[in-house]
Amino acid sequence: MADSLISSRAVAGAASSSLAATAPANDHKAAGTLQSGLTINAAFLKEIKDDNRQLKTLWDRAGELVAHRQVASNHYSELVGLIEQLCDQLAIHFSLEEAYGYFDDAVDVAPHRSVEAQRLRAQHPGLFTQIQALSDQVARIDRADLEKLAKWIERFDVFQCKFQLHEEAELNLILDSFDDDLGVGD
Ligand SMILES: [Fe+2]
Repeated sequence: MADSLISSRAVAGAASSSLAATAPANDHKAAGTLQSGLTINAAFLKEIKDDNRQLKTLWDRAGELVAHRQVASNHYSELVGLIEQLCDQLAIHFSLEEAYGYFDDAVDVAPHRSVEAQRLRAQHPGLFTQIQALSDQVARIDRADLEKLAKWIERFDVFQCKFQLHEEAELNLILDSFDDDLGVGD
């Protein structure tokens, strides 16, 4: 690990998510040092926390709106706008994960994790394409067509499950890498 930043249990706890990252090389003043000699960048942590807070708000409200087809129909305009926002936020989320290089850091700490890191990173384009498609589809549904709304909700639920599995796998990768760094990994 370079003299940059790693996320870890500390970051996971702070951000309620699973990201590690690399701070800009000239940004050490904003970074705090962990026991392991790695550093945490305060500005980066704020970005991660803001992103995760926003994502949680969107997922929570989306969950309420898709709980029943009639609810989705009653709040159709809000639902369309919300899914658009979710699409935009996921673009930010994936960009943050990639731009700050947590995949690279996880691999730096534990090179044998590289296959998993590459597998997870490769999921981002597909996940983003799916939420874009879901956003386009819901915008074209007649709000009175409850059958179509129900089918869209089923697809949205599948997407949410996929995203959650992806996030959990990323968190496990980071935590395993952190354990490797501490010498307590498998
Ligand atoms: Fe990801």
